Amino acid sequence: MTTVQIDERLNESGERTLAEDVLDGLTRPFKELPPKHFYDTRGSELFEQICELPEYYPTRTERAILHARAAEIASATGASELVELGAGYATKTRVLLDALRAAETLERYVPVDVSASTVAACAEQLVLEYPGLAVHGLVGDFERHLSHLPPPSGPRLVVFLGGTIGNFLPGARRRFLRHIAGQLGPDDALLLGTDLVKAPAVLEAAYDDAAGVTAEFNKNVLHVLNRELGADFDVDAFDHVAFFDTEHEWIEMRLRSRAHQTVRVEALDLDVHFAAREEMRTEISAKFTPARLTADLEAAGLDAAGFYTDPEDLFAVTLARPAG
Ligand code: SAH
Ligand code: AVI
Repeated sequence: MTTVQIDERLNESGERTLAEDVLDGLTRPFKELPPKHFYDTRGSELFEQICELPEYYPTRTERAILHARAAEIASATGASELVELGAGYATKTRVLLDALRAAETLERYVPVDVSASTVAACAEQLVLEYPGLAVHGLVGDFERHLSHLPPPSGPRLVVFLGGTIGNFLPGARRRFLRHIAGQLGPDDALLLGTDLVKAPAVLEAAYDDAAGVTAEFNKNVLHVLNRELGADFDVDAFDHVAFFDTEHEWIEMRLRSRAHQTVRVEALDLDVHFAAREEMRTEISAKFTPARLTADLEAAGLDAAGFYTDPEDLFAVTLARPAG
């Protein structure tokens, strides 16, 4: 029998909303918006297009690593359920689901995402592709709603792929890893995808592709604010900026105002002034060295049980377990 259940945890009272993030972020001296607001239905589709771009190596590289290592990961974890943070359309997840099914341990898949449309689409699709698989989706913020995961039914593999952990600032990253570690029982494991430090030109091309898809993805957040908060951003009055910050070893995406302008955010009764060429940060995407990864895992109370990379050391997938 196949079962699908989807729990909706967004917009419950007391939760931080888009409005609060925008009020905080756009009234700072250096304006900033959290990257989770990229992902309405259009933003999630644009991200899928990014994953297919020749310049955007992380997705195909991580997929190849998973292909090479999935059987080993399945046998090391014996997981009966796979919980995926920031699952999106779960395209690479199939590699792990196949391996867990082949190992005859797979019972349930739990996608967690702020994007309701991706959770619904992948749940619908996966129960068709995997007869007998239970899918229990959680539409929510992985920073706030992990306590609402369904109770585990057996050994659990939590996966956080794509390098999304890099979208946290360093302190928040360690706090978040500790938060995940706190959810793991002694037989559970975390599988973490991280992009690795490499030549700035390769990194910058991945975030500023020739076809302009990443630029469109970046600007999509302005469409979200216009629609959800009655803002009047002229999206064409902003330019996409992406650069590798060599000191922090992260990619930073920004939107640069082409001219002096004032934007009205009706729902907040707020006028936001932009100077000509003023930049607003929309995302960081941290790149890792093995040392940075080990230090972060240690600080979160996790031990690396497996470290898998590709022949060019572009990307890494780490299997981690609660320390001790
Ligand atoms: N795991 C997929 C998708 C990565 S894109 C892959 O590896 O290709 C990042 C995903 O995380 C998006 O689907 C986005 O909606 C989701 N996301 C971003 N911030 C989130 C948050 N705070 N809580 C839950 N999901 C989030
Ligand atoms: C989801 N996240 C890991 C992507 C990244 O590479 O940081 C989002 C992205 N931003 C621009 N391109 C892709």
